[in-house]
Amino acid sequence: MRQKIVAGNWKMNKTMPEAQALSSEVMGMVSSEVTTNTKVVLCVPFPFLPVIKYLLGKSSVAVGAQNCSEHDWGAYTGEVSALMLKSMDIPYVILGHSERRQYFGEDGKLLVKKIDKALAAALTPIFCCGEPLEVREKGTHDTLVRQQVEEALFHLSAESLKKVVIAYEPVWAIGTGKTATSQQAQEMHAVIRKQLASKYGDTIAQEISILYGGSVNSKNAQELFSCPDVDGGLVGGASLKSREFVDIIKAMK
Ligand code: 13P
Repeated sequence: MRQKIVAGNWKMNKTMPEAQALSSEVMGMVSSEVTTNTKVVLCVPFPFLPVIKYLLGKSSVAVGAQNCSEHDWGAYTGEVSALMLKSMDIPYVILGHSERRQYFGEDGKLLVKKIDKALAAALTPIFCCGEPLEVREKGTHDTLVRQQVEEALFHLSAESLKKVVIAYEPVWAIGTGKTATSQQAQEMHAVIRKQLASKYGDTIAQEISILYGGSVNSKNAQELFSCPDVDGGLVGGASLKSREFVDIIKAMK
């Protein structure tokens, strides 16, 4: 059975004391909510990683990074490699977020390298895809998302693909308060799963967790998470408030 995951993407938010307080609150409230088949992840800014990792300790909440370099080591000022994350026992890394694509020019070619580095370091990539508003309005969103999935992931072996988590995040729903309807989310998740099945076979496609992201909150989470192909959420703004985030986790049941 594929794993259900609720991951918070804090983006570039919080000071260190705030990060510690938020993580402690989530950990305190969430322990009884997490079952063996549901994973909770906090994807925090790089400088907070070791402290939050230590703070979460052996609790049921895991920590993740929001990016990694396509290189292992070297003269790449300001970058952080998958090997560095691995050396700190960080299990997850978000890759290909639309904000990285938009503001930092990340494209499919670069993401292939980053995905490979993450997998080589035994990290679980949370690979993001999703269309901007103009593409949705043109009605070509299926084509674009399929292209994003194919160019970043289809070089992988079936064994490697099984280690990837996919997050469908329509760009027009991110930070806008305009959530995709559960029908829109389900439709796209089914498109992605069908695409995976056509390349890797149905058994493997059924094992891949596909998360929805874009204005998820405690009010809409339950309906979104009840869709058959929606295996949880990648949550931005609502993950910055402990109570709200924990209510989203509870909606996973
Ligand atoms: P919001 O939940 O703030 O819309 O952000 C979604 C997101 O980008 C998660 O990666």
